[in-house]
Amino acid sequence: MSSAITIKTKPTTRRTSISFNKLNSVEIPSVLSIEEHNSDYPWSQHQFTTSIENSNNLCYCWSVNGKTIGYLIAMLAKDTADILNIGIDPDFQREGYGTALLNHLIKELRKRHIGEILLEVRAGNKSAIQFYKKQGFEEKSIRKNYYIKNSNNQTKREDGIIMSIRIPLKESKDVL
Ligand SMILES: CC(C)(COP(=O)(O)OP(=O)(O)OC[C@H]1O[C@@H](n2cnc3c(N)ncnc32)[C@H](O)[C@@H]1OP(=O)(O)O)[C@@H](O)C(=O)NCCC(=O)NCCS
Repeated sequence: MSSAITIKTKPTTRRTSISFNKLNSVEIPSVLSIEEHNSDYPWSQHQFTTSIENSNNLCYCWSVNGKTIGYLIAMLAKDTADILNIGIDPDFQREGYGTALLNHLIKELRKRHIGEILLEVRAGNKSAIQFYKKQGFEEKSIRKNYYIKNSNNQTKREDGIIMSIRIPLKESKDVL
């Protein structure tokens, strides 16, 4: 499987100063707030703290005019990286920021000669699956009934979809 990754960031009038930063503890309250808006199963402060303390992880955040609007956490192995979490502030979704964060990760992985990204997503998270497919990820396998799902006061199970993408070794048309 090989996929070219098309990156675009949409022009936006409110963007004056944007930057990627290494995620650190100062941003965690903002990240937690985004996470809680975005997910019925948000990561805890402890999960974010241990992630940024783990030297095997790459942890980034996006800032627009000094406000944290997105984050990405990836765990590195020898030849692969796993995306553990990615989130964009709901007010800034569908503006290309998620794509740009992913593109930033890809550039960092390429420098480390890491050629594949893996991730797992809930089968019900259709928008994230669409997002990953748009980036060129493909479904690799399904973990049946992997997640617990709370629905109408009932606890059910939900499949996990494992997706992956090969990172082209040569830099292509990536734009940040
Ligand atoms: C998934 C997520 C990170 C995408 O970030 P984003 O900045 O909104 O994504 P982009 O603007 O870069 O979107 C790129 C493309 O992905 C697809 N996409 C993104 N969000 C989508 C949605 N809600 N529905 C359908 N397609 C979507 C579209 O094809 C989009 O291109 P288009 O806007 O030209 O149609 C963001 O929606 C998010 O934070 N979701 C909640 C957290 C989450 O589910 N994380 C993943 C856990 S595995």
